[in-house]
Amino acid sequence: MVIPSILEHAHTLAGRAVEEGGVAVDATVGNGHDTAFLARAVGPDGSVVGFDVQEKALAEARECLEAEAPAASVRLVHAGHQTLARHLDEAKQGRVGAIMFNLGYLPGGDHSITTRPETTRQALKASAEVLRPGGVITTVAYTGHEGGKAEAEAVETWVSALPQEQFRALSYRFPNWSNDPPRLFAVEKRRDA
Ligand SMILES: C[S@@+](CC[C@H](N)C(=O)[O-])C[C@H]1O[C@@H](n2cnc3c(N)ncnc32)[C@H](O)[C@@H]1O
Repeated sequence: MVIPSILEHAHTLAGRAVEEGGVAVDATVGNGHDTAFLARAVGPDGSVVGFDVQEKALAEARECLEAEAPAASVRLVHAGHQTLARHLDEAKQGRVGAIMFNLGYLPGGDHSITTRPETTRQALKASAEVLRPGGVITTVAYTGHEGGKAEAEAVETWVSALPQEQFRALSYRFPNWSNDPPRLFAVEKRRDA
């Protein structure tokens, strides 16, 4: 297929923003696929910090990382992404190249444990602050589960209100997808701001 899927496009954008030896954040670790992607992108001299509220997710992610990015420097934090700024040491603040959010529930896990609009908004706000100029936040929002549509709308509201002189923002979706289309939002901190 020529048109990238939502997840492929998120990876392309995050991959363009991270540098070897740089810093990246996975705000929703889940099974660890995005964490492993970021770990490979920053390489052995870079570092990745990942957040999840479920120990089960972090355990799955550790296995995924062992298989897919064994040499990487990854710190997995068992805490909500809304605490992101508190868990990033000062040297990393303002240096993060890419921050990935993949909202919703853990595939294969408890569907009642999902990301929430208010904490997601807090985490996005903190992310915009720790991002380096030229860095990108990608957010994939699903609309098919309870609360998913409201969360996607909350992300869209937050993204749409960002000052154009400081951030470039993108919304990516498939308009003829009839059932609960997922959305990708991306935000780039301008270098010239
Ligand atoms: C769709 S999954 C992420 C999938 C993951 N990116 C992957 O590649 O496998 C969403 C994850 O967000 C986690 N989550 C829910 N609330 C959270 C919060 N406040 N902070 C961080 N993670 C949270 C869930 O536990 C779940 O594992």
